[in-house]
Amino acid sequence: MAKITASVYTSHVPAIGAAMDLGKTEEPYWQPLFKGYEFSKQWLRENKPDVIFLVFNDHATAFSLEMIPTFAIGCAAEYTPADEGWGPRPVPKVIGHPELASHIAQSVIQDDFDLTIVNKMDVDHGLTVPLSLMCGQPQAWPCPVIPFAVNVVQYPVPSGRRCLNLGRAIRKAVESYDEDLNVQIWGTGGMSHQLQGPRAGLINAEWDNRFLDRLVTEPDALAGTSHLEYVREAGSEGIELVMWFIARGAMSEGKPPKQRHRFYHVPASNTAVGHLILENQA
Ligand code: DHB
Ligand code: FE
Repeated sequence: MAKITASVYTSHVPAIGAAMDLGKTEEPYWQPLFKGYEFSKQWLRENKPDVIFLVFNDHATAFSLEMIPTFAIGCAAEYTPADEGWGPRPVPKVIGHPELASHIAQSVIQDDFDLTIVNKMDVDHGLTVPLSLMCGQPQAWPCPVIPFAVNVVQYPVPSGRRCLNLGRAIRKAVESYDEDLNVQIWGTGGMSHQLQGPRAGLINAEWDNRFLDRLVTEPDALAGTSHLEYVREAGSEGIELVMWFIARGAMSEGKPPKQRHRFYHVPASNTAVGHLILENQA
């Protein structure tokens, strides 16, 4: 039986990817940020999964604004890093897991969540930056990845509650897959940031840290946070945080998860970087 063993949460700021690709990680601006991921890279080496189910958002890259699925599951054999205007990032292509992805699609759709099936997709910074933060700059990513795209770019976007319940359906799907696979689920995006308008640059460290506390201890109550609160308190792009509930909902019920790592850092471009690693207790 396949099993979800741990969840990882992290921001996906594109400038972090550029800093790595351009060899700037030791510069004074970036050094404290990358220091916060040293533990994480070591942890991932020691807890290498067979598959990563990576919840992310596309930024009008693969889907454009002509067609916007709310939830889309990647069932392809591989995915190419996208050209977001400066050429594709010099990172490995992403190898998929079509068998497990198709099984999850089957199970989750029968559980009444309408997923879009994606058989070809270029993946933007929303997916590649979390991989870079957790894996560094390897020749190949350490395992296959199932990309799961969530619309947080064009309203209406899904609620935190729906995302939490979707995570539960994904857990059930994984646990009904016959092969013994160690699966991690990653929730990415956030934390507070606003990229445009008079409030551009908004950071709300107090609100972010309370979100990190409550995601661990009371995800159900936190999932009720209104869209208006995200926008007001965490900026227009803070809404990316709803994706973290998919990963949190996929964690075991009952015994609370063990927090292995927590990191919060400002500045990183316009965004507050938040990061958690939670393990399921045996
Ligand atoms: C930034 C953050 C994002 O989440 C994003 O998608 C684009 C830019 C930023 O802080 O620069
Ligand atoms: Fe983003």
